[in-house]
Amino acid sequence: MRGFLLIPITEFWFDLQLMKRIGVFCSGGDSPGMNACIRAVVRTGIALDAEVIGIRNGYQGMLDGDFIRLNSGSVSNIIQVGGTILKTSRCKDFLQKEGRAKAAKKLREEGIEGLICIGGDGTYTGAMLFEAEHGIPCIGCPGTIDNDLFGTDYTIGFHTAVNTAMEAIDRIRDTAESHARVFFIEVMGRHSGHLALQAGLASGAEGIFIPEKTNEMQLIVQRLKNRKRKKAFSIFIVAEGDEEGRAFEIANEFQKSFPETETRVSVLGYIQRGGSPVPEDRILATRLGCEAVQFLLKGGKNMAAGIIGNQIQMTPLQETIQKKKDVPLDIWAINELLSH
Ligand code: F6P
Repeated sequence: MRGFLLIPITEFWFDLQLMKRIGVFCSGGDSPGMNACIRAVVRTGIALDAEVIGIRNGYQGMLDGDFIRLNSGSVSNIIQVGGTILKTSRCKDFLQKEGRAKAAKKLREEGIEGLICIGGDGTYTGAMLFEAEHGIPCIGCPGTIDNDLFGTDYTIGFHTAVNTAMEAIDRIRDTAESHARVFFIEVMGRHSGHLALQAGLASGAEGIFIPEKTNEMQLIVQRLKNRKRKKAFSIFIVAEGDEEGRAFEIANEFQKSFPETETRVSVLGYIQRGGSPVPEDRILATRLGCEAVQFLLKGGKNMAAGIIGNQIQMTPLQETIQKKKDVPLDIWAINELLSH
C-alpha cells in the first residue's frame, strides 16, 4: 500500500483524525537511527494535534507504566545520536497473555489509543498479538541492524552498522598486511547474512561466509588452491549465524586446508550497534516515523512501514514476520568474482 502523500495539513485532515493520544517505544536490540525515528514520530504527532507518550524500556516499560509525555523539545538534538532515548529491552513477560493484559490496562489508564513500535521481528510479533487480544492498534517501524525484516529494502540502523563494520575491517586489513596473516572477522546479523554481505563487498573481502549458503568453504578453498597470484594476507567476513563465535570454527576449518597460514579471528560485536547514524539511516528513520504516525492517526493498524524502491509501503505485520527477506546472493557472487 502506498504511503500517504505529505499533503498540506488542512481542516479536512483534522476532521478525519481518529486518535488524540499515541505511544511510541523501542523494543529488542537497539540500532543507530532509532532516535531519528522517535523524533519524527513525536514531531509528526504534535504537528497533527496528537499527544505523544514515550514508553520507556520497550514492552517492559509498558508493563511497568513507565510513561513520559514527549514534546518537540524532548526530541531536540537527538537525530545524530545512536541508541534510543526511550531505552529498550527484550521482555519475556510480554510473551505471556497475562503480561499483555497487564500492559493493555496500563495503556488504557494512560489514555493511549494507539502505538508506534520501533524494533525487529520480536517487536512486531508482540504488537500483533497485542492488537488481536486488546484492540490497541500498532504500526511498526523496522529498527534493527540485521536488515532481516520483510517489507522494507532496509531497516533502521543497517547502513550505519555496515559502515561501522567496514571501517573496523579496513583497520584490521592494516595489521593483516603487516603480519601476513589471514583474518576471519565476525559481524552481527543474528540468522541473516545481510550485514556480512554488504560489509564484505564494501571492504574488499577475500570471501564471505553467511548462514544462507552452505558451500562457501569448498568454493573458496578450491579458488585459493587454483590461484596463480599468491597473496600474503587475506580478510574473510563471517556472519555470526546462530551464535557468537562462528568465525573461530570457520578459521579452524580453513587452517586444515592451509596449515602454513597464520590465522587470527576478530569478533566485531557490539560496536556495530552504536555510533552516530549515517545519513541513510537518519533519512530512512525520519520518513518511516512520519508515515507511520500519519497512518496510525488515520485509523491504520497491524501494519509495518517500509521503503521499497524508494517508495513508502505498508505491509501487514503478519507478513513481515512470516515472510523471509532473501539475502542478495548476487553480492556474494560478485565478491567471489572479484577475489582473485
Ligand atoms: O538483532 C540485533 C542483534 O544485534 C543481532 O545482530 C545480535 O545477534 C543480537 O542483536 C544480540 O542480542 P543482544 O543485544 O540481546 O545480545
